[in-house]
Amino acid sequence: MSNTRANRRFRSQEWFDNPNNPGMTALYLERYLNQEYTREELQGERPVIGIAQTGSDLAPCNKIHVFLMDRIKAGIRDAGGVPMEFPVHPIQETGKRPTAALDRNLAYLSLVEVLHGYPLDGVVLTTGCDKTTPAMLMGAATVDLPAIALSGGPMLDGWWNGKLAGSGTIVWESRRLLADGQIEYDEFIERVCASAPSLGHCNTMGTASTMNAMAEALGMSLPGCAAIPAPFRERMAMAYRTGKRAVELVMEDLKPSDILTRAAFENAIRVNSAIGGSTNAPPHLQAIARHAGVPLDVRDWQEIGHDVPLLVNMQPAGAYLGESFYRAGGVPAVMGELAEAGLLDGDAPSVAGGTMAAALEGWRSRDTDVIRTVADPLRAKAGFVVLSGNLFDSALMKTSVISPDFRARFLSAPGAENVMEARAVVFEGPEDYHDRLNDPELEIDEHTILFIRGVGCVGYPGSAEVVNMQPPDALIRAGVNHLPTVGDGRQSGTSESPSILNASPESVVGGGLALLQTGDRVRLDLNARTLNALVDDEEWAERRAAWTAPELHHQTPWQEIYRTHVGQLADGGCLELATAYHRVVNDLPRD
Ligand code: FES
Ligand code: MG
Repeated sequence: MSNTRANRRFRSQEWFDNPNNPGMTALYLERYLNQEYTREELQGERPVIGIAQTGSDLAPCNKIHVFLMDRIKAGIRDAGGVPMEFPVHPIQETGKRPTAALDRNLAYLSLVEVLHGYPLDGVVLTTGCDKTTPAMLMGAATVDLPAIALSGGPMLDGWWNGKLAGSGTIVWESRRLLADGQIEYDEFIERVCASAPSLGHCNTMGTASTMNAMAEALGMSLPGCAAIPAPFRERMAMAYRTGKRAVELVMEDLKPSDILTRAAFENAIRVNSAIGGSTNAPPHLQAIARHAGVPLDVRDWQEIGHDVPLLVNMQPAGAYLGESFYRAGGVPAVMGELAEAGLLDGDAPSVAGGTMAAALEGWRSRDTDVIRTVADPLRAKAGFVVLSGNLFDSALMKTSVISPDFRARFLSAPGAENVMEARAVVFEGPEDYHDRLNDPELEIDEHTILFIRGVGCVGYPGSAEVVNMQPPDALIRAGVNHLPTVGDGRQSGTSESPSILNASPESVVGGGLALLQTGDRVRLDLNARTLNALVDDEEWAERRAAWTAPELHHQTPWQEIYRTHVGQLADGGCLELATAYHRVVNDLPRD
């Protein structure tokens, strides 16, 4: 556990106040004094707190942090620390091609180098857009410098024609209306833009709100941090308090390794079910756990998370958006409800100091229409189902978004509840899907399952959010808005599709999906939690013997480095060699 700072030199003093090496000390000092710092500050036994700035013009979801910076710095200074802001490689979900997921590990890697190689004693991690939160927590876990996460908060609620319009979710809805001919291109654009009325990240319970909730559930941010909308005054107050607390963490020597325990991850998994969280949370949490050296397995999501009820009535699983979630109490209220029902480990630690139970004292739902109680949930058993079979070792399905219509259409045959047999139609990536979806020769109908492959970490590269494929236009016009879909990529956390995704191992490294052919029969059995191609063993073995790995086209050096070292989504999509490094802060770099 942590000890206090008595008799311990600050790490930054090795740079700024080291009489044993006056030459280097002078060189370190002169250039930092050349800007906004003085010798009293840098040599005065005050901790230097880095602020990892993830916001920029290229990363609008996190740009609020540019405006929060004064408050973070004020908090650090009022607690006796010296703030030093530094930039983080931008990861904008809706800007970076081929996908922002490719850059999570790049931002992670560069954060590790910054935290290890510069005169820092602690760090404030600014988080927001999907991948920024895991990248920051992964880096902090590897380095093990005292660290605290500050969410930028969601945008204000979006509205269109008097109805709530949620980030991402309105895209999936609107593209069906467009395919159906009910709206035109211009209205499509206007509808989507109406969902984004202010600075902040997605206002739905997509991957951004989910991952900020995960940071809070893990104990890595102050209670109440995740849900405060970006433009609210409470967000500025949270920035100030977070800056202050960062200094105290250094004084108390409270590090990520003290916070990121197995109990913390189990709590996070339960909270994910209760909030109706994103299918991107499992790979991100897996990556954080591996860098923290905590054992976690994709099957833990089934075992720990599946039976937890859905409490949060927020899009895409429910009706409301971020403002209502915040007013109903946000993450502490959800955790308070879970704790009350015995579904939370109150002994898990928090950066607030003390236990999670202490941090949650007095927190319950303030609006039970928005945050329900465990006794009266939106849905029972709202977690992920982890499937396996001859097409993959593991894949996830978010059962909380299975609509009554979907269940009735595909999963309720008399005597075969939760079972579906269908014909497979296979697409080789999103371009192939768009080119051929409306081709009548594919004979896609209600008895079809759509597959997409080649879109995992190695294949895409980075793993693409494309598994929530919509049916052909003709089928939508006939009233079929969803078909079951399967793939080795991911889907947006804002999607309401009950896809089977994150299939691992992916096809390009020889996962079973690679052997599937259009026209094969497949059988989904949610009771047994299996999905299998109904191809006899001999034929399957022949296909396996005939298979060769596709040649990959790298567009940049990073794509090649990433593909050479990345693992599978079930294992967090980490740079595998990086998972061997732990607590690197204890190994001071050469002078
Ligand atoms: Fe950045 Fe959703 S696109 S948070
Ligand atoms: Mg996304």
